[in-house]
Amino acid sequence: MRQVLITGATGLLGRPVFNACSAVKDWQVSGTAFRRGGLAFTKVDLSAIETIPPVLDTLRPEAIIHCAAERRPDVSEKDPAGTRRLNVEATAAIASWAKRTGCYLIYISSDYVFDGSHPPYTPSSPTCPLNTYGQSKLDGEEAIRASGAMAAFLRVPLLYGNVEYLDESSVTVIAQNMLNARGSGKKLSMDHWALRYPTLTDDVAVVLRQMLEHHWSKSPLTAIYHWSNNEVLTKYEMAMAFASTLNFDPAQLVPDMTPPSHAVPRPKDCHLDSSLLESLGIGQRTPFAQTIPDILTKFIK
Ligand SMILES: NC(=O)c1ccc[n+]([C@@H]2O[C@H](COP(=O)([O-])OP(=O)(O)OC[C@H]3O[C@@H](n4cnc5c(N)ncnc54)[C@H](OP(=O)(O)O)[C@@H]3O)[C@@H](O)[C@H]2O)c1
Repeated sequence: MRQVLITGATGLLGRPVFNACSAVKDWQVSGTAFRRGGLAFTKVDLSAIETIPPVLDTLRPEAIIHCAAERRPDVSEKDPAGTRRLNVEATAAIASWAKRTGCYLIYISSDYVFDGSHPPYTPSSPTCPLNTYGQSKLDGEEAIRASGAMAAFLRVPLLYGNVEYLDESSVTVIAQNMLNARGSGKKLSMDHWALRYPTLTDDVAVVLRQMLEHHWSKSPLTAIYHWSNNEVLTKYEMAMAFASTLNFDPAQLVPDMTPPSHAVPRPKDCHLDSSLLESLGIGQRTPFAQTIPDILTKFIK
């Protein structure tokens, strides 16, 4: 049996990754979590760096898919030290343990390592994060490289999937805002400036499972990889796609073409070129509209 560990197994991405890997019959999959860590997963605060080696010594994984992170740009901007501890220093400690024990590491990174001015981005495109979160994800990549651990890096864009609550993803929070405004007749302004490539967490989970299978049964995967859906949508267009499921009057939606005046800068277009994984026969893409009714319906009262 191969021992696989998913960090952040309670997260938006970690949940489907845990399920996809658990479905492989020769893999024994464990998970770590923090606030939601119950009986199913090992509860650990990865920010307490000294706790990482003993936890890993106990779990003894042969591969780690490192999903745990602070991934909210606004929170990262307010707490750069805490973000650095989790996204960089904890990652470095995991990588150092992986190097020492020969464990293979897959690190989840982000399209926010780019500034969004020159899409599409290949894995070798120059990086230039615009905000603290993007910088921390890039520094996490660097920390792994510096450790010498055998590792792959998977950069992904904006994710959505089966959420536990609508605010859990920046995609489904749009639906929350629409439900709050439904029937009020009030106009709801939606960003129509930034181009996004919302990617289903179930698809990323399959990609990660395929990467691990490829690494173990075909050839080692030790580079930077990108995976992205190729449908381009602004938040306004996502809202339009939600309108019928939410029974929301599309006339209430107003496209806002001006660059957002966020305190935290966001890139305009970080389209990730996924051709490297495609050339290896790895990948799965679900059309955006396909899963939306399933994801949203349970939140409609
Ligand atoms: N979501 C996106 O749109 C997006 C886009 C690009 C890249 N990514 C990357 O994808 C990866 C997964 O993100 P996600 O969306 O699944 O994040 P998420 O939903 O916020 O989940 C974060 C996970 O990390 C765990 N965690 C948080 N703080 C921790 C701590 N101090 N110690 C141990 N575990 C801790 C959480 O556990 P508890 O919930 O149990 O506390 C949870 O399982 C991250 O690396 C993120 O940077 C995400």
